[in-house]
Amino acid sequence: MKLVRLIANLGYGSRKEVMQLFREGRITDAAGEVLYTDDKVAHEDVRIDGEPLDPPTGLVLLMHKPTGYTCSRKDAGRLVYDLLPPRWRRRDPALSTVGRLDRDTSGLLLLTDDGALLHRIISPKASVAKVYEATLARDLGGGEGELFASGTLMLESETTPLAPAQLEVLAPRRARLTVTEGRYHQVRRMFAATGNHVDALERVAIGQLALDGLAPGEWRALDAAGVAKAFEPTVPGGR
Ligand code: URA
Repeated sequence: MKLVRLIANLGYGSRKEVMQLFREGRITDAAGEVLYTDDKVAHEDVRIDGEPLDPPTGLVLLMHKPTGYTCSRKDAGRLVYDLLPPRWRRRDPALSTVGRLDRDTSGLLLLTDDGALLHRIISPKASVAKVYEATLARDLGGGEGELFASGTLMLESETTPLAPAQLEVLAPRRARLTVTEGRYHQVRRMFAATGNHVDALERVAIGQLALDGLAPGEWRALDAAGVAKAFEPTVPGGR
């Protein structure tokens, strides 16, 4: 890909603006030699104002989504994209969230510009395990684990029952729930179906991928080994 297009696609500006950066001599190689638009240089050797280029396409981010942020590009209010460098919102291909977490749900959120990977994770066929910890308004009744595991629970206004899900009771009003689907407000609706209410919800893992000390609002890029962890089955009681 031509350097101008590559740099414009990373969100540094329109092609016209990037051409201007070239004219101003702000685009160089790692040794500080000024580059020209038709030069052929490896991504990692390009500098803009002396800084390495943003990561290339194929970016996968693991974010600790705080509550109060929306997984949307254009809602009013705080957006998960506000937590990333501003020009990343202009990348092409665009960074998308892998599924969604509600505004009031916190925890592990993946973002990627790799459409095939996104579909591989959210596809119901892939059965990727999503692990949530819920704080409940009322004590658990005792029958929830069996109901969730049964594969027969039908949520309101749905036409197919939920796939079996695993519940671990952590405290009278706290539970860890592992689901393989991603239906709308699924966890909140599952507990609502038992007459309970989720007061707070956090996603703590996708497969074997966990937050590993990331604070709310922080994020890091994943390498291929990190991404592979999302597809590894969780271990009940442990992860
Ligand atoms: N289930 C929910 O109810 N909310 C989320 O954000 C994720 C799963």
